Parts: sequence; structure tokens; C-alpha cells
Amino acid sequence: MQAGYWRPWPGSFVGYVCVKVLITLGSSEVRMIEVKNITKRFALKKRKRKDPEKPANANPGLGPDGKWIQVLDKVSLVAGPGAIYGLLGPNGAGKTTTLRCIATLLNPDEGQITVNGLNAQTQSREVRAQIGLLTSDMKLSGNLSCRELMRFFGKLNRLKNARIKQRMDKLASYLEMSDFIDLPIAKCSSGQKQKASIAVALVHDPDVIIFDEPTNGLDILTARTVLDFLRDFKSQGKTIILSTHIMSEAETLCDIVGIMLNGRVVCQGTQAEILASCHAQNLGDAFFKVALRHGVVDSV
Ligand SMILES: Nc1ncnc2c1ncn2[C@@H]1O[C@H](COP(=O)(O)OP(=O)(O)OP(=O)(O)O)[C@@H](O)[C@H]1O
Ligand SMILES: [Mg+2]
Repeated sequence: MQAGYWRPWPGSFVGYVCVKVLITLGSSEVRMIEVKNITKRFALKKRKRKDPEKPANANPGLGPDGKWIQVLDKVSLVAGPGAIYGLLGPNGAGKTTTLRCIATLLNPDEGQITVNGLNAQTQSREVRAQIGLLTSDMKLSGNLSCRELMRFFGKLNRLKNARIKQRMDKLASYLEMSDFIDLPIAKCSSGQKQKASIAVALVHDPDVIIFDEPTNGLDILTARTVLDFLRDFKSQGKTIILSTHIMSEAETLCDIVGIMLNGRVVCQGTQAEILASCHAQNLGDAFFKVALRHGVVDSV
């Protein structure tokens, strides 16, 4: 190299490191889930229509003619890389609907969702390639074994056979699946099915993890394995959003918490911020106080 002449790329190591750092910084800005003001309404079938004359709090979100129900009302949240965002809320609050919108299974009526900088509505295929989704709606086919399902979903995600095998071995060992990995799903226990669903969701090693009640139906040991798994993902810088009803789980796992009531995120922040704003000792206490403040419960 001539004196006084510095080639930043591709010849110099310094240049290479600079570009790497820029790429890493740039990608960490977009490696996240951003939900902006989404609303979602569902049309109600005739037999499910409700009486619009009833008081509003009996059917929150019900349209004036009783023919539709608004289940999400301007929901906004940001889940960043290397942190776990936890959605808490009572039954019917809209947690699963929010997660389904992020996962491109539903289109919001208004608002925008981006995942790693991709528009979830217009680039749904690309978004799907980046996410691992676990939801109770996902019913795995009963005749196939967990191994066959992982292979099938690996192929769907265009993984090479060697990579599928590698991922299968890793997930099977981490989730302790050896005694049922070749059993048809129909013959698995509910906890084993949940483990199989987790393995299938993660076979392509996604950057973004969307888990709806991940420890639902799991025994305490398996639940702990799954939570450790999520912590491990977090330490790898992945973006994780989950819903849970288990306050202790949220307390030990979540960096950011959003409390949903009647289709709205009414309170969100770090756990310390939420406890301070509610003058609460723990997340359960904060949750009740928020529900009380919004008229969802009458007394604590
Ligand atoms: N396809 C649908 N058609 C009509 N209403 C729906 C539909 N899907 C969900 N809902 C309604 O949307 C509301 C929110 O449901 P959602 O499943 O998002 O709640 P959730 O917070 O996940 O509740 P849970 O804690 O019980 O899982 C509920 O009132 C539910 O009945
Ligand atoms: Mg749900």
C-alpha cells in the first residue's frame, strides 16, 4: 500500500471492522417489532350478535348495531432486540389478536406494523420467514411425528437437510424431546404437544419470537426449560414478545410489560416504571390497580 493512501474497503481490516460495526448498528435499529395505532374489528355472525342496548361495559367495543365488535383500539408498542416484551391482560383483552396481527395472520383495519423494518401487511411473506410463532390456535397434524413436522417446517423455510438435522438435534436436546420425538402428535400429552409446537416454531432459528402463553399446560420443570430458552434467545439479541397470565413468569422474564384492557394497552414500561406509576409492590398488585383505575374490576 502506498504511503498516505488508505483503502477502507475491501483491503483494510480497519475498514472491514468499521463496516461490520455500521451494519450491526444499522440492523439493531430495525431488528424490532413496532406496532403503531392498530385497530381491529370483527364482524359478528348472526347467532353471536349481542344486544347493543345493554350497558357499554357489558359488551365493550360492540358496534352500535351489534353487528361487529372492536377488539383492538389504537394499540401501539415497541419490542426491541435483546429484550422480552410481555403482554398481560384478562381473558378477551386482545393479546392474542395483537400477536396474530404482528405475525401477519390477521390484518389490522387501521395502523401499521413493522417487523425488522418490514411492513407486516405488504411484506407478510418476508415477515413470516423471520418470525417464530407459537399460539394455541396452531393445531399440529395428529398423524405426523414431531420429527416429521420439524422436517416439514424446515423444508417450508427452505432449510437444507443438514441444517434441519442440526436444528432438530439442538431443539430436541434443549426441550428434552427424545422419548416422544418419533411418536405421532395425536399420541403425545398436552405438554409434549406444546414442546413440539415450540420446536416447530423455532426450527428455522428466527430472529423474532412471538409466543402466546408459551408455558400453557406445561409442568413446572418444562416451563422452566422454556423460560430458560427464552432468556437464552434474549442474550442472543433476538426480539421476543409474549403473552402470559402468570405474573411470576412476567416478573422474572420480561424487560418491558404492556397491560391490555378491553383492546387497549393502558400501561406500559419497564417493570420499575410500572410499579412506580401504580405505587405497587409487585406486578400482580400493579395489574389490579390498573384494572381498578380503568373500571375493569370494582375493588382490589
Ligand atoms: N374471529 C373472531 N371473531 C369475533 N370475535 C373475535 C374473534 N377473535 C377474537 N375475538 C374476540 O376478540 C376479543 C379478544 O380476543 P383475544 O383472543 O385477542 O383475547 P386474549 O387477550 O388473548 O384473551 P385470553 O387471555 O383469553 O387468551 C375477545 O372478545 C374475542 O371474543
Ligand atoms: Mg389469548
